[in-house]
Amino acid sequence: MSGRIPQDFINDLLERVDISEVIGARVELKKAGSEYKGLCPFHTEKTPSFHVIPDKGFYHCFGCGANGTALSFLLEHERMPFQDAIAYLAGLAGVEVPKEAAPTPRDDRRGRLLDMVDRADRWFRQQLVQHAERATAVDYLRRRGVDGAVAKTFGIGFAPPGRRGLLEALGTDDEQRRLLLETGLIGQADDGSYYDRFRNRITFPIRDTRGRPIAFGGRILGDGQPKYLNSPESPLFHKGRELYGFWECRQAVRDPERVLLVEGYMDVVGLAQGGVPEACASLGTAATRDHLEKLFRLAPEVVFCFDGDAAGLRAAWKAARTALEVLEDGREIRLLFLPAGEDPDSLIRKEGAEAFRTRLAQATPFSEYLYDELSRDLDLAALDGRARLAHLARPMLEQIPGRLVKSLMLGRLAELARMPVEELQRIFQGARQVSPAMELPREPEPAPPPRPETVRRRVRVAREDTATALLLRRPELAAEASAEAMERLAALDAPGSRPGVRLLRALVAQLHAQPDLPAAVLISAWLGTPEHERLVRLAGGAGLPAGELAQGERALQQFREILAMLLDEAAGMRRQVLLDRIRSGEATPEEQAEYFALKRASAGVREDSAPVARG
Ligand code: UTP
Ligand code: MN
Repeated sequence: MSGRIPQDFINDLLERVDISEVIGARVELKKAGSEYKGLCPFHTEKTPSFHVIPDKGFYHCFGCGANGTALSFLLEHERMPFQDAIAYLAGLAGVEVPKEAAPTPRDDRRGRLLDMVDRADRWFRQQLVQHAERATAVDYLRRRGVDGAVAKTFGIGFAPPGRRGLLEALGTDDEQRRLLLETGLIGQADDGSYYDRFRNRITFPIRDTRGRPIAFGGRILGDGQPKYLNSPESPLFHKGRELYGFWECRQAVRDPERVLLVEGYMDVVGLAQGGVPEACASLGTAATRDHLEKLFRLAPEVVFCFDGDAAGLRAAWKAARTALEVLEDGREIRLLFLPAGEDPDSLIRKEGAEAFRTRLAQATPFSEYLYDELSRDLDLAALDGRARLAHLARPMLEQIPGRLVKSLMLGRLAELARMPVEELQRIFQGARQVSPAMELPREPEPAPPPRPETVRRRVRVAREDTATALLLRRPELAAEASAEAMERLAALDAPGSRPGVRLLRALVAQLHAQPDLPAAVLISAWLGTPEHERLVRLAGGAGLPAGELAQGERALQQFREILAMLLDEAAGMRRQVLLDRIRSGEATPEEQAEYFALKRASAGVREDSAPVARG
């Protein structure tokens, strides 16, 4: 497909556009010298390792290795079709796309479907202000306390009564009707005639991550069945992937501390109306992994809200099972159970935002919920009950990808089971037969296979490994890392989950003792240990994202940056540990002071965004 657009034209285009403008429209970037920095949109992180270098026209993430140009960003991150991305960039640069590159009909199909849904969206909104029978809809919204501003934010509209309103307005020829049918806006009866899917309902557009309407939900005015009607699956709309309110939330709140996952359209709208705009809803289905991944793009913490009734409890358990798979380090999940008979919409109306936020702050941590549920019918006073709990928890803990999260949860399980954590660990690892000394420096997990739609140039290299690789090439870099800083890094490896960090610390200590030790000698000291092989690989350049990076100033700069990031990460981890202790009431006054000092320090770092080289 790309063969149709001359490479020269693409190169010229990439020269002309400002990559920081393209990416800056989608990722929050802060200027740092001649570059920009931000949180990487290709993986979840709390400290920015995503760099955009306008002078060179490319971006690079030191955390996950993602890199490329403005074009590859649009293709891989925005998933834009190639022709659209070119057209978009050409628009920014103010140049014409060469004629032979005109979009083919097949490529444009999606564009035309989007255009049709967009027209329907405008038509529904227009009916709410001018249709003869609009009063019933307006009254209904008023009764539910939705004001004009919120209705506008969410693009709420009105599908009037009658079977052919939308059909006649937009289905002006066969092609238009085909598009309407394909998006599910109209249906076709047995006799071949067409009819509007949404009739006499309030309409809620469901938007994609870029704010374009792709489907609708329609609520009946008052009582009746079905209460909500949703667009069917279509080439534009997949229920399991889309979240109602995602785009609106992103528009309303810059960096929410947390986002809420609620059940219904009106919960999202009602919360926004009540002053809690950071909520999304899965569309009448159980939350999927895709949903959760999406939510974590908005905030590091997700609170699941459920009704307190039996159905809510069942839904919570289901969501919790799914949540296990997305619990990366740095992510937090909590659960909020509402009083029986209430949903977020009714509750915030009754209590107001402040009381609702108080509830949020008191939501149950995931681990507590999980262990409470698992031990529901068990007698933890009895040895059998505790053994059973450990047995039930094991397969669940194994699903958790985050090593730190997993380790903390294991620690809690050990407390509940009244067993030393090492003992528990040994039992869990039973069949693997590894000696405790050998078990930790396991290889990092393999990166997931590339998604079929786009081939991603994404190499997962832990940043500590990059630092080690740099150090092996340039041992003098060890002088950049103070013993005190290295001590702080120990927090990252506290549960013994970051062998790479341990290795880095050991190497730096070695070099502090004997500066300028050649890499070969350095490495030979590890012969016969599992670390040796890792070092050999790293010395061979395995940790370096690109060949040219280990040279001169660049290496120094990179090493400093990685160190700063690791220190931030360590501070974040220490904060989390302290926060957990504060929450559980175990923290000493010193620990509380330390927590708030760390919190202030991290806010400071964000504000001035200066490179945080510490030595
Ligand atoms: P609820 O029945 O909890 O409705 O359905 P609600 O959101 O509180 O709606 P209001 O307050 O009565 O207007 C929760 C979600 O389940 C889906 C919708 O996505 C709804 O928002 N649902 C519900 C359907 O798809 N169809 C239905 O008939 C009912
Ligand atoms: Mn409701």
